[in-house]
Formats: sequence, C-alpha cells, structure tokens
Amino acid sequence: MKFIKSSLATWATLLTAAMAAFPSINDVSPDNVVYISSESVYCMIFPKYPHMDIGASENPGNTQTLCTYPYNATLQGTIPQGFFRSVAFAKGVGITGQPYVQLTGCIVPQLVDRLNPADSGGQYDSNGGVTLQGNPIGSQCLGYASYVELIEPGGPRACIRCCIDPVDCPVTLDTSGCPTVIPGNYFDCAY
Ligand SMILES: *[C@@H]1O[C@H](CO)[C@@H](O)[C@H](O)[C@H]1NC(C)=O
Repeated sequence: MKFIKSSLATWATLLTAAMAAFPSINDVSPDNVVYISSESVYCMIFPKYPHMDIGASENPGNTQTLCTYPYNATLQGTIPQGFFRSVAFAKGVGITGQPYVQLTGCIVPQLVDRLNPADSGGQYDSNGGVTLQGNPIGSQCLGYASYVELIEPGGPRACIRCCIDPVDCPVTLDTSGCPTVIPGNYFDCAY
C-alpha cells in the first residue's frame, strides 16, 4: 500500500505541475490525453469499445484514455497492472536537443477487453491524421507538445513517446511498427 500511495502522490504532484506549466491542457478532455510519468504511472489512448481493432478505433468517438491511476474516474478507464509484461521507461534528448520520454515493451492484450489479441495494431498521435490535428483529434500528452503511440496486440507490443519537439515523435511511419517509430527496449517481443 505504501508504494501505491507514493505513486498516487507523485502522480498528483506531477499532474499539478504539468497543468501549471502548460495551462492549455486544462482545455483537453480527460478522455483525450496521454501521460507518461514512470513505468507504472501512465495513461494511453485505447479503443473505446470491446474487441475493437486499433484501426477501426481511429474514427471520432471511438477512443478513450485509460490510465494505471485514472484522475477522472468518469471519463477515463483503468489499465490493469501487468498490461505491460515487460516495460522500459526512458528519457532522451532528441534531434534538436529537446527532451522526450517514452515507454516501450511487451504487452498482455488479453488484460484489456477493448483489444483484439490478433490485431496487428495501429497508431494514435497528436499531430497526424487527415487534418494533422491528431488521431484522435485534439489529443495531447500532458506536459509535452506532441506524442505518438502504437498498440500492436499481435506483437504483442506497445510503445508511446511524448516530445517537446514534434520532430522526435514522427507520425508518418505508422505502418513500420514500434521499433522503427520509437527505438527502445522491446525485450523478447521484438520482431
Ligand atoms: C472529469 O472531467 C470532466 C470534464 O473535464 C469534469 O467536468 C468533471 O468534473 C471531472 N470529474 C472529476 C471527478 O474530476
């Protein structure tokens, strides 16, 4: 319990700091955000409905934010512990010297009923999509200017990176897979 309490305290502190530093995120609905604090405290975009391929969810109204520690229980769902079977949290400095943060690893897609374990997967981001306003439209990473997220249930693999400089979060490589879009540690789920 001690661990959980300190994680929640960290989460609240960081969220408050992020909101103070980036007032615009107050305008983002809690169901349309991603967040990376640590390997166990994070939010990601998922399909909104059960057993939906990521590709099928890439339409308005078909996505929702899920968090390991939801901060808005009405609008956000819960990512169960163990969703990432193996996960690497990493911070880096990108092409123009700006920081980014990321999670990479192997997932257990069966733990989230919205996923189809055989789905080859797809991408969510803040700067791509038909209108370049993101997919889902208007989605943001708390504290960062941009993000790119791939869920590949068939991998079974997932990855997410939040960037200050959008150039470090490329959105045009979505069919290339996690290791190309977000280089990092993929443990034994790499292929
Ligand atoms: C959840 O978010 C909505 C929309 O921003 C807000 O109206 C509501 O008060 C929030 N609920 C909680 C419990 O924070």
